[in-house]
Amino acid sequence: MMLIMTIENNHDLSKLKIIGRIVFETLLLMKRRMEIGMTTLELDAIGAKNLEKYGARSAPILMYDFPGHTCISINEEAAHGIPSEKVIQPGDVVNIDVSAELDGYFGDTGGTFLVPPMDPKIQYLCRSTRKALHQAMDIAKTGARVNRIGASIDRTARRHGFVTLKDLGSHGIGKSLHEDPHFIANFYDRNDHRVLSEGQVITIEPFLSTGSEQTTTEDDGWTLTTGTGNFSAQYEHTMVITKGKPIILTAL
Ligand code: CO
Ligand code: CO
Repeated sequence: MMLIMTIENNHDLSKLKIIGRIVFETLLLMKRRMEIGMTTLELDAIGAKNLEKYGARSAPILMYDFPGHTCISINEEAAHGIPSEKVIQPGDVVNIDVSAELDGYFGDTGGTFLVPPMDPKIQYLCRSTRKALHQAMDIAKTGARVNRIGASIDRTARRHGFVTLKDLGSHGIGKSLHEDPHFIANFYDRNDHRVLSEGQVITIEPFLSTGSEQTTTEDDGWTLTTGTGNFSAQYEHTMVITKGKPIILTAL
C-alpha cells in the first residue's frame, strides 16, 4: 500500500502541529542541556524524558527498533549515531535528530550544534546548511517538481564551497516516519518526475559536507560516517506544502 500523507482536514493539521511542537521542543531542550563531559546516552535520556512527558513515542524505536530514543551523531558521524558512553568533548560537532509519534501522527526535526571552542569553518558550514534549508523551503510549493528541492540545496552548498551527502535526503512523513515521496535527494535528480501537491507533508533536511559526498555504515549497523576529518551538518523541519510558503510543523 502506498501511503501519502495529505492534510485532509483541520484534525490532521492540529495533530501534526502537536507532535511537531513536541519534537522541536525536545530538540531545543537537548541543545540547551548539552554540555562537555556528558555522555550521549545522558543527552538522549533528556530527550526521552521530554517525549515521555507528552506520551509521545520515539519514532526510531517504534519504526526501526533503533537502540536509542534520538539519534546523536558526533564529528565524522553524519546521521543515525547511537547514544552511548561517548563523552561530549570541547570542539565537538553534534547532530541531534528527534522524531516521534503521538496518536498516529509523526514529526521529525534535527540540527547540528557546536561545542566551544568553535571552528569558524564549521560555523560557516552550519550557517550555509541553515540557508540551504530555508532556500529549499522557499521553492517547495504546490505544483513544484520535487527535484527542485535537491537542486536548490546543492546549489547553495556549492556556492559556499561545500558539497552535499548524496545518499541521504528528505522524505514524506505524516502517518508514518517515512512515506511517499520517499527519498528527496540533496542534488538535482533529472529522473525524478514527482511533483509536490497541496497539503502534502514532507521533511526538508539538507546535509552539507566539507568534502565527502557519501556515507559508510559502521559495524554497529546504524551509524553513518563520512570519513576521518570530514564534517557535515543537517537541519530538518517537517512541513505542509501549500501554494505559498510551507507551514512549518516543527515549531514552538
Ligand atoms: Co530526522
Ligand atoms: Co527525516
